[in-house]
Amino acid sequence: MNWGLKNRLNRIFSPKDGRTVMLAVDHGYFLGPVSKLEDPRKTIEPLLPYTDALMLTRGVLRNCVSDAIDVPVVLRVSGGNSIVGESLSNEGLTVSMEDAIRLNVAAVALSLYIGTEHEHQTILNLAKLVDEGEKYGIPVLAVTAVGKELDKRDVKYLSLCCRIAAEMGAHAVKTYYCDNFEKIVKSCPVPVVIAGGPKLNTELDALKLAYDAVQRGARGVDMGRNIWQSKHPVAMLKAVKAIVHDKATVKKAQQVFNSSKK
Ligand code: R5P
Repeated sequence: MNWGLKNRLNRIFSPKDGRTVMLAVDHGYFLGPVSKLEDPRKTIEPLLPYTDALMLTRGVLRNCVSDAIDVPVVLRVSGGNSIVGESLSNEGLTVSMEDAIRLNVAAVALSLYIGTEHEHQTILNLAKLVDEGEKYGIPVLAVTAVGKELDKRDVKYLSLCCRIAAEMGAHAVKTYYCDNFEKIVKSCPVPVVIAGGPKLNTELDALKLAYDAVQRGARGVDMGRNIWQSKHPVAMLKAVKAIVHDKATVKKAQQVFNSSKK
């Protein structure tokens, strides 16, 4: 791994504990103006001080994020699908590596759709992106997408996805939490972070999810809806951060949440 690539990974995963609290706000790339992300600038700005890295598309980065920020950017570079289209898995690469570099990103991210009709093309997208990333020192985060089939979130399927992503050269993998999550981590030789998935019933549920994931080896979160669809997004992000970086228990994190609510 070259110095630049390692340095960029260290900007995302804290060298102190190897963990990250990444804020995912890329949902519009196929969901459009999803609830609470209708005005991305309004959603993102108050969260930036508590975010280790920001995952988003180039359109939102250019138009809704100040160029004075000091938060590393993980740029989504796959797409070509929509929630009302024929197939969510039909993704291609949407941003050149040159433009990602112009945008001064710390990493690029794309989705893998294993077990779908477009499995082959999304795996080749990853391989191509890793080749380009290695050339310029840009790490690649592979996202193990499940499309509309949320029931695919089991250890057998997600281990398969994460391992294939790592074998293709991804430098980190984002997946979902599931029972026996530690098996995914053990069989994936690169850092694994979890997505939050659709908003859970309570903040406590989301804090438990983050806690269980890091206890079982996740190197942090790349979480979106369970942060910014909360009535108290800043408090929620601070609480998740306490779990990921400060070894907070769920109870302690809930105290952080309650005391940070405005
Ligand atoms: C899918 O829209 C994106 O990859 C999201 O970044 C990912 O699902 C994480 O966001 P959430 O925690 O809302 O699932």
